[in-house]
Amino acid sequence: MQANMPRLQHRALPLALALSLALSLAAPAAWAADAQAGRAKAQACAVCHGLNGLSTAPDAPNLAGQPALYLARQLKAYQSGERRHEVMTLMAKGLSADDVANLAAWYASISVQAQLPP
Ligand code: HEC
Repeated sequence: MQANMPRLQHRALPLALALSLALSLAAPAAWAADAQAGRAKAQACAVCHGLNGLSTAPDAPNLAGQPALYLARQLKAYQSGERRHEVMTLMAKGLSADDVANLAAWYASISVQAQLPP
């Protein structure tokens, strides 16, 4: 019985490594994002997009509950110039790749409810 123990460990280690590698490869990039860091960064966005991601400025879209993929894509589009807007092009320029992922994760993590009119 005891003689088998080292053999078991030998087999378990590569298995655990393979499993953790598979999990890390399977995890979408958004999982690595830090929503709380995004929340702190979002202070700079709140004047137009609201503290809760529901916009306070009439020409600014709601960000709360939008998919992180979509939000990150828009911010990158402002950065690259593919999408242009006086304010947002400037706002996006100051964001690092981590900021973009974290902000997207933060706004995506806010849950919103939609109610149809009667
Ligand atoms: C001074 C107001 C203002 C501030 C501050 C601001 N935004 Fe915006 N944001 C806007 C407006 C207006 C638009 C719509 C622009 C357009 O038509 O492309 C917009 C659009 C966006 C969009 C695209 C949303 C969509 O549905 O396509 C994202 C994402 C976004 N803002 C994120 C941010 C983030 C993150 C910050 C803070 C780092 C920020 N904004 C700061 C005004 C603002």
